[in-house]
Amino acid sequence: LDEKIALKEKIRRLLKEQQAVLVAHYYVDAELQELAEETGGCVSDSLEMARFGRDHGAQTLVVAGVKFMGETAKILSPEKRILMPDLEATCSLDLGCPADEFAAFCDQHPDRTVVVYANTSAAVKARADWMVTSSIGLDIVAHLHAQGKKILWAPDKHLGSYIQQQTGADMLLWQGSCLVHDEFKGIELDLLRAEHPDAKILVHPESPAAVVALADVVGSTSQLINAVKTLPATKFIVATDNGILYKMQQAAPEKTLIVAPTAGNSATCKSCAHCPWMAMNGLRNLAAVLETGSNEVQVDANIGVAAKTCIDRMLKFAA
Ligand code: 13P
Ligand code: SF4
Repeated sequence: LDEKIALKEKIRRLLKEQQAVLVAHYYVDAELQELAEETGGCVSDSLEMARFGRDHGAQTLVVAGVKFMGETAKILSPEKRILMPDLEATCSLDLGCPADEFAAFCDQHPDRTVVVYANTSAAVKARADWMVTSSIGLDIVAHLHAQGKKILWAPDKHLGSYIQQQTGADMLLWQGSCLVHDEFKGIELDLLRAEHPDAKILVHPESPAAVVALADVVGSTSQLINAVKTLPATKFIVATDNGILYKMQQAAPEKTLIVAPTAGNSATCKSCAHCPWMAMNGLRNLAAVLETGSNEVQVDANIGVAAKTCIDRMLKFAA
């Protein structure tokens, strides 16, 4: 306990000394989210993380999240120093979509507008026309569909089919998935719902179709937190990474939150309802990067410039 208090103190001091700002995702440890909030940083979904990092005046951003979030910050602000507690913290969607295979896929379908999810490498984004996050993907694809565009979508197949089903767009899907959300199961969720008939079901769209089909609300992490705040229900079943519970409970302390069931039992399943890469962010490595300046995110300048176009398009659309 003493070590934690000392580490937090050190992080607060170093952030101040270095005029650095901490940008955290909802899935990282509650302690890091707390620190980000109290030091004037931000805790948010991937769209807001990108916007906040771009607009904040600090020259050093510390991104507590996964690799694509650090890369997006660097692409949007190449002049800033972007640090991450662990540069190995990646994402199964990013890993499942290697840039060379993706480029070959795009080459085979030159008639399609290429839309990629934020959870991809800078090199994949460099090949795309649009980048989207879960909070705005549906609106952007609906917009492209209305213009008669055919879409090539990568990498999350569940988010892709959800958007396809909602918009009716012609979408060719890369077959990637998130190892955390893939573990949520429709049958078990249905059984849990029967036990709690008064609960509303909140689902992140990276979840399989059978889970999405049972949802009262489908949305990004911020949209799900907002649903807990605004819906009149008192009980919610939540199908996304359990890191979100910290903010959700803070937003509505009197409400009951239940994590949706996963295939494995959470004692034995490492990635059940918690992202192993988000979990690589901790107080110790955060303090260490601030102290040493190590773990600086680097993005090849040419790739960065090419990738920025598709991110800027989304940000302009979102504005
Ligand atoms: P959000 O954009 O909804 O925060 O999602 C990011 C993510 O990695 C979900 O698994
Ligand atoms: Fe990637 Fe899934 Fe982890 Fe989000 S929760 S960072 S999509 S592996």
